[in-house]
Amino acid sequence: MSSIETSVVIVGAGPAGLLLGRLLGLAGIDNLVLELRTRRYIEERIRAGLLEHPTVELLGIAGVDDHLRRDGQFDEGFELRFEGERVWFPTAELTGGQQTVLYPQQEVVKDLLRARDTSGEPIVFEALDVALHNLDTERPQVTYRDADGAEHVITADYVAGCDGFHGVSRSAVPQTLRTEFQHDYPFGWLGILAEVPPSTRELIYAHHDHGFAMHSRRSPTLSRLYLQVEPDCDAATVPDEFIWDELTRRLATQDGWTLHRGPIVQKSVTAMRSFVVEPLQYKRLFLAGDAAHIVPPTAAKGLNLAASDISVLSEALMDHYRTGNDELLANYSTTALRRIWRAQEFSRHMTALLHHVPGQEFERRLQRARLQNLVISRSAQASFSELYVGIPFEGKPERFL
Ligand code: APR
Ligand code: PHB
Repeated sequence: MSSIETSVVIVGAGPAGLLLGRLLGLAGIDNLVLELRTRRYIEERIRAGLLEHPTVELLGIAGVDDHLRRDGQFDEGFELRFEGERVWFPTAELTGGQQTVLYPQQEVVKDLLRARDTSGEPIVFEALDVALHNLDTERPQVTYRDADGAEHVITADYVAGCDGFHGVSRSAVPQTLRTEFQHDYPFGWLGILAEVPPSTRELIYAHHDHGFAMHSRRSPTLSRLYLQVEPDCDAATVPDEFIWDELTRRLATQDGWTLHRGPIVQKSVTAMRSFVVEPLQYKRLFLAGDAAHIVPPTAAKGLNLAASDISVLSEALMDHYRTGNDELLANYSTTALRRIWRAQEFSRHMTALLHHVPGQEFERRLQRARLQNLVISRSAQASFSELYVGIPFEGKPERFL
């Protein structure tokens, strides 16, 4: 069994793990990333696409925002549609100019991987049977088997569990010491990628009696759209024609706006849940990103919350290695959870506002009233916009860079 020493071992090469590795590397803190999948798999995994203002700032601090600034779509707001109405929501104007950016999550991953290639810091793909050991000692260890079957052990000061909801890190926290909070929604999202120029420049969120629909984009020639469906819907059984018909119905306006159709090249169903585990630390293990929490995709907070966690964890680790001060590390969980729960609340609120559950007619009328409040009240719009564009991150790793 080969043995490797490092300061921080990072389990998972998604946005959380790669961003943490990048920031630690910039601060001269050696780290090693272990990833279960192949590089090609994680570069091609289609997921969310909206970056909050603080996330864009942190990617800039990490020096990986060149492509984002070249190819990302910087938005001044979004369009809300309900009962045939089209209402422009000027989120940037209402938040002092804070723009959100449409930029595919897999592009963020590629940007971070390219930066790691340049820095030459170690990353292992196809790391199998990853297991965490001795977390309650000063030299925790992580073992894994490589694609050739050889066993390896990594000894580090700290372990960052960034391996997503289905990873192994969260379960390394003794069950008696962790509390899991979960809420499941009675619907899911069917997402499609279509080879057709977007029918809109701005994001459209639509509330309709048939259910929620959304029009996003991935490039000038690729559209990304979503439909509310039953939670157990099998995407493969849903005909493309039905998808386009439903999107057309739910996004329809009274002024003749047209939804352009094209070949659907990818479709999948996302179940919707809210999940948080507390605390986010066990001894030398720190959880971040989807390993620690899941939000419904409505407000696209998943990647942004991962970045928010990493802003706190990276600063805390830098403080430890630079000054020996462990106060930020000791407060990581409390600090990160403050913003996690605020993002959870907003994601739940936006989901409840826009999705229709058949038979809940009283709730349906409350939804209409909430939508009208949002349309009528500038202060309600401003409050919604603050949470939509992203409340400031609590971590400040830039003070060490
Ligand atoms: N060992 C090593 N790596 C693992 C293991 C394991 N046992 N299990 C999972 N992984 C890897 C996955 O293959 C994935 O690449 O961990 C990574 C976790 O990445 P994400 O699931 O993307 O989670 P995170 O980095 O927290 O990103 C959060 O960004 O990906 C978007 O919207 C998505 O909400 C998500 C957000
Ligand atoms: C996306 O483009 O995937 C997206 C954008 C905004 C959202 C959700 C998803 O609120």
